[in-house]
Parts: sequence; C-alpha cells; structure tokens
Amino acid sequence: MTKTVLTYGTFDLFHIGHLNILKRLKAEGDRLIVGVSTDEFNAIKGKKPVVPFEQRREIVQAIEYVDLAIPEENWEQKRLDIAKYDAKVFGIGEDWKGKFDDLDDEVQVIYLPRTDGISTTELKRVLSEFDERHVQSLKDTLDTLSQIVKELS
Ligand code: CTP
Repeated sequence: MTKTVLTYGTFDLFHIGHLNILKRLKAEGDRLIVGVSTDEFNAIKGKKPVVPFEQRREIVQAIEYVDLAIPEENWEQKRLDIAKYDAKVFGIGEDWKGKFDDLDDEVQVIYLPRTDGISTTELKRVLSEFDERHVQSLKDTLDTLSQIVKELS
C-alpha cells in the first residue's frame, strides 16, 4: 500500500533548506504531496513572497522527491487533504513544533530538523543589503560626476 506524506510551505526563493526537508520527507513514505501557499494565503499569514505562486509551485513540482504540488489556500485545508489523498504522515520543519499536533488523530505528525544557517527571511535580508549598497554606489557616482561638472564650470 502506498504511504503518502503531506507537507505545506511557501518555498519562496527556493534554497537548500527546502530541498533537504523535501528529501527527508520523501524518505518517510512512498509519495510526497506538497501544499504550496498561494500569494493570497501568504497575505493572510503576513508574508509577501518575492516569487509568484505559480512559479513557486512549478519549482516545487520539478523537484525529484515531489510527486504532486498543490495550492495551499487556507489553514483548514489540511484535514481535507489528508482525507482526499489518504495521507498517513504529516511532516514539517521544527519551526512549527507542536503547532499541528491536533492532526495526530488522523495521521502521524512529525517535525523534522531545519537546515542551519539559511532561510528565505535571511536571503531577503541579504538581498535588501545588496540593494542598499547598489543605491549607495549610484549616489557616490552621481556625487563624483557633479563634483567634476562643478570643477569644469
Ligand atoms: N525549512 C527547513 N530548513 C530551513 C528553512 C526551511 O527545513 N533552513 C523548512 C521549513 O521548516 C518548512 C519548509 O522548509 O517545513 C518550508 O519553509 P518556508 O517557510 O517556506 O521557508 P523558510 O526559509 O523558513 O521561510 P521564512 O524565512 O519566510 O520563514
């Protein structure tokens, strides 16, 4: 009998932490189904992804450990998906530890260790620093140019 594993997440700016957890989750069963949070659901969660939903879903679907990537549209969907896909395991990173224990009347609930030192939040922070540096270097160039113009006039 096929053992289906279910997980959910935003998977924005797909990184090695995402890949590692999908690999570990697939190893817990035979079929891995991933609910990718839509942009609308992210807005409810207070998150604004950089990469639009359809692209995030396409990237997750292309990962070899993933059998099916579906949209995640609300908090209540998990129980419906467990029934719909006959899931036996619900798994997610330890940052959610304890948050989904109530599902254990229907599935085995597991929390897996996160990959150290990387997250979408951190990537966004690094990218925004790059952006600030870029703006600063443009300003410096403008200052130099206006100084040259002044000296010439
Ligand atoms: N995850 C992980 N290791 C990381 C980052 C994420 O195992 N370093 C896992 C999360 O625990 C979750 C899944 O990847 O099960 C999707 O997480 P998501 O929230 O989309 O990624 P984060 O990088 O944690 O994003 P954010 O910083 O916005 O919370």
